[in-house]
Amino acid sequence: MNMIEVVDLCYRFADGTQALTEINMTVERGEFVVMAGPNGSGKTTFFRHLNGLLSPARGTVTIDGVDVQHDPVLARQRVGMVFQDVDMQIVGETVYDDVIFGPENLGLGRNEIERRANDVLIMVGLSDQRDRHPHQLSQGEKRRLAIAGILAMQPDVIVFDEPFTHLDDSGVCIVLEQMLKLHHGGITLLVATHDLEKVICYADRLVLINAGRIVEDGLPKMILPKVEKYGVRMPCALRMGKEVWPWLAH
Ligand SMILES: Nc1ncnc2c1ncn2[C@@H]1O[C@H](COP(=O)(O)OP(=O)(O)O)[C@@H](O)[C@H]1O
Ligand SMILES: [Mg+2]
Repeated sequence: MNMIEVVDLCYRFADGTQALTEINMTVERGEFVVMAGPNGSGKTTFFRHLNGLLSPARGTVTIDGVDVQHDPVLARQRVGMVFQDVDMQIVGETVYDDVIFGPENLGLGRNEIERRANDVLIMVGLSDQRDRHPHQLSQGEKRRLAIAGILAMQPDVIVFDEPFTHLDDSGVCIVLEQMLKLHHGGITLLVATHDLEKVICYADRLVLINAGRIVEDGLPKMILPKVEKYGVRMPCALRMGKEVWPWLAH
């Protein structure tokens, strides 16, 4: 069974904007999927359906056979989302408090909450920052904090919405390193970006979305040559005609 199944998903905002039209997509457990499309193509709106932040106008989203609409609490625990604007995700007065927010809401015992918080702070390399105010962190550290808060919920899927926004080179590298660790740990990853350069060489699959519709879905090496047709910038090396295929995971 596919882990994520999206069938005929349509969504329209209250002002009448048709943001998603008949989206059909499946994701297998452990896959690393990149979704690319120009600004306004529907990436964020699509991702918000995976954990029940938005409800479909039509169609269904199921996670391991459970309809997200029927059990949004479960969906939110199983599908963690790292927002594009990391400041919006900060809820705690300290790094540690921020990380325990999710597990506390799950109603876990004190020992389990502390164990999880300590483990995930080590995982993302923020143990020595646990007493700092989150707003004092760098953009890269904030994104790692968001990842820690999600990992503390022990999700099966992590969705990254434009994870490289406002990061400098070292921030990009650290976030990429986290993603690869999660991928190798068996977590299913979906990454929305209009910037393929940084991440595509690690992905199993590339999905292109344009004007709310999925227009291509397949192995990166098959889809990359078509991206410019849909307003997505091609990685430099490819544009220059260099042979990048050996770098691609798939
Ligand atoms: N809150 C909203 N109200 C009305 N329209 C919206 C809202 N959020 C996004 N949209 C519109 O929905 C479409 C998809 O947007 P979005 O999912 O944010 O795209 P992306 O993440 O690919 O940039 C765009 O036309 C956008 O203008
Ligand atoms: Mg977006």
